[in-house]
Amino acid sequence: MKNSRREFIVQSSLGAGALLAAPLVAQANPRVSFSQSNVGDTLKVALIGCGGRGTGAIIQALSTKENIQLVAMADAFKDRLDDCYKSVMNSRAKDTSAKAVQVNQKVNVPEDHKFVGFDGYKQAMALADVVILTTPPGFRPYHFEEAVRLGKQIFMEKPVATDPAGIQRVLAAAKIAKEKKLNVVVGLQRHYQNSYRDLMKRVQDGQIGDVVSASCWWNNDGVWVKPRKEGQTEMEYQMRNWYYFNWICGDHITEQHIHNIDVINWAKNGYPVRARGTGGREVRKGKEYGEIFDHHIVEFEYADGTILNSQCRHIPGTWTKVDEHLIGTKGKVLFDSAKILDLKGNVNYAFDKKTKENNPYQTEHDELWATVAAGEYKFADAENGAYSTMTSILGRMATYSGQIIEWDKAINSGINIAPSRFAWDADMPLKPDANGLYPVAVPGKTKYF
Ligand SMILES: NC(=O)c1ccc[n+]([C@@H]2O[C@H](COP(=O)([O-])OP(=O)(O)OC[C@H]3O[C@@H](n4cnc5c(N)ncnc54)[C@H](O)[C@@H]3O)[C@@H](O)[C@H]2O)c1
Repeated sequence: MKNSRREFIVQSSLGAGALLAAPLVAQANPRVSFSQSNVGDTLKVALIGCGGRGTGAIIQALSTKENIQLVAMADAFKDRLDDCYKSVMNSRAKDTSAKAVQVNQKVNVPEDHKFVGFDGYKQAMALADVVILTTPPGFRPYHFEEAVRLGKQIFMEKPVATDPAGIQRVLAAAKIAKEKKLNVVVGLQRHYQNSYRDLMKRVQDGQIGDVVSASCWWNNDGVWVKPRKEGQTEMEYQMRNWYYFNWICGDHITEQHIHNIDVINWAKNGYPVRARGTGGREVRKGKEYGEIFDHHIVEFEYADGTILNSQCRHIPGTWTKVDEHLIGTKGKVLFDSAKILDLKGNVNYAFDKKTKENNPYQTEHDELWATVAAGEYKFADAENGAYSTMTSILGRMATYSGQIIEWDKAINSGINIAPSRFAWDADMPLKPDANGLYPVAVPGKTKYF
């Protein structure tokens, strides 16, 4: 009997062989046993979280060569969903060849397939084969769990959680996703970037010897602020101005710096055992900045004693850098300039970024969708996404408390910073004082254990 790809997606078998837990990715021949005869079926996609990245990700998905249709959208807010819909409908095909199908011709979202509010994701997911999860990270564990439960193929953005309890949920669902052979791509897009893939292969081939030290940075001016509007409940305000609240954002060490920390985890093929660091708020003093810090400097220690010196800073007017460096026993790698140096600083190898670099945001969709369309199973990024997210949370716990935080204790701590329910009138765990200011962690006083 011929199976359609749709059946494959829904019926993916339990108990199948697991993919590697290491930072992703295209593993050798993981083709699943089902007929390829219906490979031309239209793949239906649902977009969950229709903001900036959701809009970009769905346009990238619809710009791939595969036969895809956007059939459902979900967002907490109607205005965000409507703006996204308009942007997608106005987007031109990235492929300018005559044969290219315009992005908007791949959109078929009637009004009753646009879902607004906290629970809309469930209805949207039920209509699709593939889901794109691009809300802020606080919701990711719940959305990922549901997508896995329904047997969907998944693209989800980083970070994948904001606290240890969320990490455990993602790890549990990731295990089931592997058993069901559901492709999961996480938007840690350096894994899909040619220069990083090339350099990392050289590291793994031993070109710089053993990695014994590393540094990484996400230092820049910071991001947007959404001022409070009259009539907003505390939940609505925190949802709109989400960057500044840890239950939904995780602080910028988690929300952005994860990219750089993850690269070092990839190079080490593992995760730190402990973290110690310092951080605070030098310029983020106003009430619009919620509770997050504006700088974190963390030493992450790996089991073999390797130290990762990590810095992230959101302070306008300071020097900027977004990069990762490795120091090995035989040489160094500078990822942003895509070079390998010997220990005296001579360039041994330079990746030709001008001619060989790709757009990794597009590549992650090209590779995922081609895999799903072919009925194959290649991507199991969720576990690494969870462990790299946990690394950033470990760093945050170290800077907030000013204590040395052990990985095992932190990941198993059960710490859960989410509101007890998701509703516009929910009682929020973090509330402003009479002046509108929120409590902020104080190193030496904030305690986890
Ligand atoms: N890989 C990258 O380089 C990259 C770049 C940008 C953003 N991101 C990630 O993408 C995610 C979204 O970021 P963004 O910049 O698009 O933010 P955004 O605020 O522009 O969009 C988030 C959207 O999700 C919606 N939303 C919030 N809670 C929801 C819920 N419970 N159900 C449904 N919708 C909900 C919001 O209303 C909003 O429209 C974040 O995790 C971010 O880290 C990744």
